[in-house]
Amino acid sequence: MSVWCRKLKYIWFNGRIVECEEARVHVLTHALHYGTGVFEGIRGYWNGSNLHVFRLRDHIVRLVNSAKLVGFNIGYTVEQLVDATIEVIRANGFREDVYIRPIAFVGEGGISLDITGMPVEIAIAAFPFGKYLKAEGVRVKVVSWRRVPSFSMPVMAKACGIYLNSVIALREARLEGYDEAILLDWRGYVAEGSGENVFIVRRGVIATPPTTASILEGITRDTVIRIARDEGYMVEERDITREELLTAEEVFFTGTAAEITPVLEVDGRPVGEGKPGPITMKLKERYQRIVMGLEERYKHWLTPVY
Ligand SMILES: Cc1ncc(COP(=O)(O)O)c(C=O)c1O
Repeated sequence: MSVWCRKLKYIWFNGRIVECEEARVHVLTHALHYGTGVFEGIRGYWNGSNLHVFRLRDHIVRLVNSAKLVGFNIGYTVEQLVDATIEVIRANGFREDVYIRPIAFVGEGGISLDITGMPVEIAIAAFPFGKYLKAEGVRVKVVSWRRVPSFSMPVMAKACGIYLNSVIALREARLEGYDEAILLDWRGYVAEGSGENVFIVRRGVIATPPTTASILEGITRDTVIRIARDEGYMVEERDITREELLTAEEVFFTGTAAEITPVLEVDGRPVGEGKPGPITMKLKERYQRIVMGLEERYKHWLTPVY
C-alpha cells in the first residue's frame, strides 16, 4: 500500500474519482524520465464550519498556462478542473486544512523527446497538511546554484523538470545546516527560495524581485503585494542585490506551502534583530485572517467546499 493512501482515500484521475491505490503510473511514463509535467500547490483552510480553497481559479489558470508553456494541452477547461478539485476534497470528506496537488503530465508515449500527440494524464490529489517551513522563522543560505534563467526554460511555468533546480539548491542549504535556500538569478540578483518568493523591507519600503528575475510568479506574492498596498505600504517590484538582502531590516518568504515565513538569518548574519519584523508579522496575521475567511474585502479569493 502506498503511504499516501493512509492519508487520503480518493484521487481525481483522468476525469473520475478513483481509489487512492488505483492512481498509479507505469515506470516508462514520459514525465518520470524527462520532467514533462506541470503541477500546482494549493491550500484549503478549515475554519471550524467550512473548508475554503484559497485562490483556486488563479492556481488552475496558472496550471493551464504552465502546460501551454511546456507545449501540451491539458484537455480540460479551467472550470472543469475547479469543479474536479472541489469534488475530490468532498469525496474524501476532509474537515481540516489540506494541500491540493493537481498534476498534468505526458504519459506512456515512448522515449522520444518529441511530445507531439503523446497522451496527457491528469490527477488531482488533496491531503491533510500543516506547516511547510518553521512558523517562527528560518535560517537561509544564498546557495551557489543559480535559478534557471528564463532564456533556458519557461520558468514562469510550474513545470516538473524545473524543480530539479530547487531540489539541488535546497540540498546544498540543508547539507550546510540551513533551513532553506535563496537562489540568485543568472545576473546575480536575488531570485527566490527553492519553493517560495522573497520579500525584503529596507527603510520601511517593501521590495520583491520582478517577474523578469526568472522567478515563479507566485500567487501568494501577488496576494501579499495587494494586501500590503491596501495597508498603505509602498511595495516595489525591482531587482534586489545580495547586499540589500544581507542588510535588510526584514526578509520574508511567501508561498502557498510556506504562507508568510519570516527569514531570521541569511548566510549566518541576523536579519535586523534576528527576530520576525513588525511588517512581516502584520502581513502574516492579515494573511491568516484572509485565508480563514475573516476579511470581507478578500472573501472573493475563497471557494467554499461544502
Ligand atoms: C519556485 C517557487 N517559487 C515561488 C513559489 C510560490 O508560489 P505560490 O505563492 O503561487 O505558491 C513556489 C511555490 O509554489 C515555488 O515552487
